[in-house]
Amino acid sequence: MSPLPTYDSMIPEAGLRAALALDRPRIISEIGASGLKGRGGAGFPTAVKWNFAAAAQADKKFVICNADEGEPGTFKDRVILQEHADLVFEGMTVAGKAVGAHEGILFLRGEYTYLRGHLEAVLAGRRDRNLLGKGILGSGLDFDIRIFMGAGAYICGEETALIEALEGFRGEPRNRPPFPVNTGFLGRPSIVNNVETLAWAACILGRGADWFRSVGTEKSTGRKIFSVSGDCARPGVYEFPMGLTVAELLKEVGGEDAKAAQIGGAAGQCVPAKDFGRSIAFEDIPTGGSIIVLGPHRDMLDVLHNFLEFFVDESCGQCAPCRLGNTKLLEGLEMLRNGTCSMAYLKELCDLGGTMQVASKCGLGQSSPNAFLSVVENFREELMGRIPTHA
Ligand SMILES: Cc1cc2nc3c(=O)[nH]c(=O)nc-3n(C[C@H](O)[C@H](O)[C@H](O)COP(=O)(O)O)c2cc1C
Ligand code: SF4
Repeated sequence: MSPLPTYDSMIPEAGLRAALALDRPRIISEIGASGLKGRGGAGFPTAVKWNFAAAAQADKKFVICNADEGEPGTFKDRVILQEHADLVFEGMTVAGKAVGAHEGILFLRGEYTYLRGHLEAVLAGRRDRNLLGKGILGSGLDFDIRIFMGAGAYICGEETALIEALEGFRGEPRNRPPFPVNTGFLGRPSIVNNVETLAWAACILGRGADWFRSVGTEKSTGRKIFSVSGDCARPGVYEFPMGLTVAELLKEVGGEDAKAAQIGGAAGQCVPAKDFGRSIAFEDIPTGGSIIVLGPHRDMLDVLHNFLEFFVDESCGQCAPCRLGNTKLLEGLEMLRNGTCSMAYLKELCDLGGTMQVASKCGLGQSSPNAFLSVVENFREELMGRIPTHA
């Protein structure tokens, strides 16, 4: 069975044809009525983002598809691009009409270079069928898409660092405001959306807002694509309605005996078994789609060590809370491992994590302590065994 049933059943170009028949505000209001929220992790309402860019006055605007997909445990965008690139490009074209852009850029993760040939062929086919280029399908819409290769830095998935990299600079996050919808690529209004968000936008135009919101919860409408890995019988890429519980998801993937699930990648939350009744939804446990199943034999310190090594490597180093904070958390873990961390120091590390969440400049440093803090909160007994009794 295909892991992406909805995408498989889409009628090619239904979304684009519907968008071409609508004026710009109507396209955005359809997306707004669907309740679509960004699938890249932060869950920002897509219509609100598109509205800002549509309202901005400029000689040029850009639609940028974020295919950097560097979050540990996330591989759903790769599968979407492999199997349904047409739908993603259709969503970008719909977005181009909605905001008044003529150029789209797919920012493709460096490690996905092997996909480039396939994606260029899909783009060429779309140009041949007049689905890209001048006067698309006889309408007044001019829009084309090019591919830009990332170079392997996780931080370039952050939208302002991505734009810096697109402009040929070192990929470092910018101060916000101004936001990319006003001052983005080359100083022009730009929308940055996740691969999956754009594919859903094409589906919504094709099938209507009511179809999309007929599943999910009130605040998290529609379906979501998940990358499931770790200690389960059936890892892979899945499509589920938003709002399902962690327990329901684990049952589907054969991970019922898990002791925890890391939801949202290394930057997400470590959810213990007692909380498996909670929902995967923006209003409860948000995620860009990464679910790492942690079986009963897992040592939580090993899990955290792996994540923190990643963040120490991937911090761009611009701001102290993230650059130094991740290093300190990693050192603290090593002290826990070799039995030299006191209770008082563990508390200081938790305070440091809280400071990083509020004082870091971008989402990397703001979210990198999440796993540490949730493990200290939920696996206290396991950690206490590593703290000397006199300390
Ligand atoms: C460190 C970091 C890495 C990110 N990586 C990605 C990524 O690989 N893909 C992605 O779509 N969004 C990523 N994001 C989120 C983007 O900044 C941005 O919010 C997203 O592309 C917006 O698209 P959406 O509204 O469709 O979700 C990352 C954010 C941070 C802080
Ligand atoms: S939080 Fe980390 S990745 Fe983000 S700007 Fe600061 S140092 Fe760079």
